[in-house]
Amino acid sequence: DKGRPIYTREEVAKHKTPRDRIWVTYKEGVYDITEFVEMHPGGLSKIMLAAGGSVEPFWALYQQHRKPEVLGILEPYRIGTLEGGAAAAASAAAAAAVDPYASDPARHPSFIPRSERPYNGETPGTLLAASPITPNEIFFVRNHLPVPHVDAASYKLKVEGEGIRSLELSLEELKSRFRKHTVTATIQCSGNRRNEMSLVRHVKGLSWDQGAIGTAVWGGVRLRDVLKVGRLSEDDMHVRHIQFEGYDKDPASEEIYGASIPLHKALSLYDDVLLAYEMNGQPLSADHGAPLRVVVPGVTGARSVKWLRRIVPSSSESPSHWQQRDYKAFNPSVDWDSVEWGSAPALQEPPVTSAICEPAPGTSVSLADGEITLRGYAWSGGGRGIIRVDVSADGGKSWTAAKLLPPAPGAPPHGSYSGAWAWTLWEVSSAAAEGTSSPTLELVCKAVDSSYNNQPDSIGPIWNLRGIVNNAWHRVNVKLES
Ligand code: HEM
Repeated sequence: DKGRPIYTREEVAKHKTPRDRIWVTYKEGVYDITEFVEMHPGGLSKIMLAAGGSVEPFWALYQQHRKPEVLGILEPYRIGTLEGGAAAAASAAAAAAVDPYASDPARHPSFIPRSERPYNGETPGTLLAASPITPNEIFFVRNHLPVPHVDAASYKLKVEGEGIRSLELSLEELKSRFRKHTVTATIQCSGNRRNEMSLVRHVKGLSWDQGAIGTAVWGGVRLRDVLKVGRLSEDDMHVRHIQFEGYDKDPASEEIYGASIPLHKALSLYDDVLLAYEMNGQPLSADHGAPLRVVVPGVTGARSVKWLRRIVPSSSESPSHWQQRDYKAFNPSVDWDSVEWGSAPALQEPPVTSAICEPAPGTSVSLADGEITLRGYAWSGGGRGIIRVDVSADGGKSWTAAKLLPPAPGAPPHGSYSGAWAWTLWEVSSAAAEGTSSPTLELVCKAVDSSYNNQPDSIGPIWNLRGIVNNAWHRVNVKLES
C-alpha cells in the first residue's frame, strides 16, 4: 500500500454524492465508485446506502458478494488507504481532552442519526428485514453519554455489594475461568417507534422510527456463574436486585449510567443473562460497550448496561436516573407536571410488537397479480415466542397470516413459551388490493405471542409522556402505481 494516500473515516464520509464523488471502504482500502454505481447489479439505491462508509455490513446481509469476482470489480476503483492504528488513537485521545464527545467512534453513514451528542442512530427499516442477524456496524446505537474508552488489557470487573464476596475479574480471567456461553438475542430500545406516538401528541425524546432494534449472537459468560463464584445465595431473602454500573459518565454532573434487574432473572439458568465480550463473533465495538457489557435477553435495552464497571447485588433497585425517573409508562393524562415517578415500576419485559420494514412509507408499489410483498419483524419480551403475524392491506379490515421465516441461528422454534429471545422475521405476499380504486394503501401488521398477547390497534390509549413501549399496530401508507 506504500505511496497510496491515507484517508480518515471522516474524510471518506464527506464523499457520498456524485458531485462530491462516491467513496466507500472495504477492509483498509478506500474506493471511488462514482463510475460503478449506475452499473451495480443490485441497483443504485442499494449501493448508495454504503456511500461514505464501509460496504462490509451490507455484504454480510447480501451474501451474493461473497465471491472473488466482486473484489475484482472493486479493485480498479481503489484510491487510497484508511487511516488506522496508533496515529488515529492518539489524535482521538488528544481531542477527547477538550471535548468529551470528540473521541466517539466513527459511525456507519447508513445510520439514521437521531442525536449527535450523545450519539444515537438507528438502522434503516429496509435493512432490518434482510437478515435475522443484524451486522455489528449497522446495529442501532443508543448512547446516553459520551462513549468511554476502556482499555481491555487493564480492565477489571468489580463485583461487590450485599450478600456477596467481593470479586475483581480481568477480561482474561472471565474468559479463562468461566464457561463461554452464546445467546441469540434481540435488543430493542424502550423508545422504538416513538415517532408514531409523537404524531398523536408530542413526546420528549429521541424520535425513533422502527429501527431502534437489532439481533446478534452474543458471546460471553453467564452472569449467574459469576454471582455463584461470589457465593450469592438464592436463599438470601434480603438481596432482591442486581444493579449494574457503566463506565459512561455525565461530564457535568458526574452521574454514571446504571440499571438493575430482579434477582430471579439474574440467577435463572433459563434466562441466559450474559456478561458479553463478543457480538456476532467479534469483540464488542466501542459503541456497543467494549470490552464487556450486560445482555439481558427479553428485557428492554436500557438494562443491558454497556461498558460494565461494577455489579452490585442489593435489596433495592438501581438508584440511577434511568431506573427511577425514566423508562416508565403512565396513563395518557399524566403530564410532566403531574408525573409521580415512584408510582410505576421500571420497565423490564416489553410487550409484543411488530413492524413493517418493506415497503418503506410513501414508496410507490406496483401490484404483481394483485399482490404486494411485505417484510418485517415481530418480537415479544420475556422470551415469549411469536405464534402469528397478521397483515392487512386495507387498514385492518381483512387479514392474511404472514409466513414466519426460519428462526435466527441458535433461536428456538417459533411459538416457544420461553427462551425465544430473538425476533421473528416474516414476509407475505398479501392478496390485497385487487380492484381497489384508492391511490394509496394502508398496510398494517400486528403480532401475537405465545401467551396470546396482542397489539392494541391505536396509539391514543397507550400514549405516555416518555413515549415508550409503543406497540400499536404498525401502519405504513404506500402509493399504488397505476
Ligand atoms: C448484487 C457488486 C455494494 C446490494 C451484486 C452483484 C455484484 C455486486 C457483482 C451481482 C452478484 C451476483 O452475481 O449475484 C457490488 C459492489 C459493491 C456493492 C462492487 C460495492 C462497491 C452493494 C451494497 C448493497 C448491495 C452496499 C446493499 C446495501 C446488492 C444486492 C444484490 C447485489 C441486493 C443482489 C441483486 C439481485 O440478486 O437481484 N452486487 N455491490 N451491493 N448487490 Fe452489490
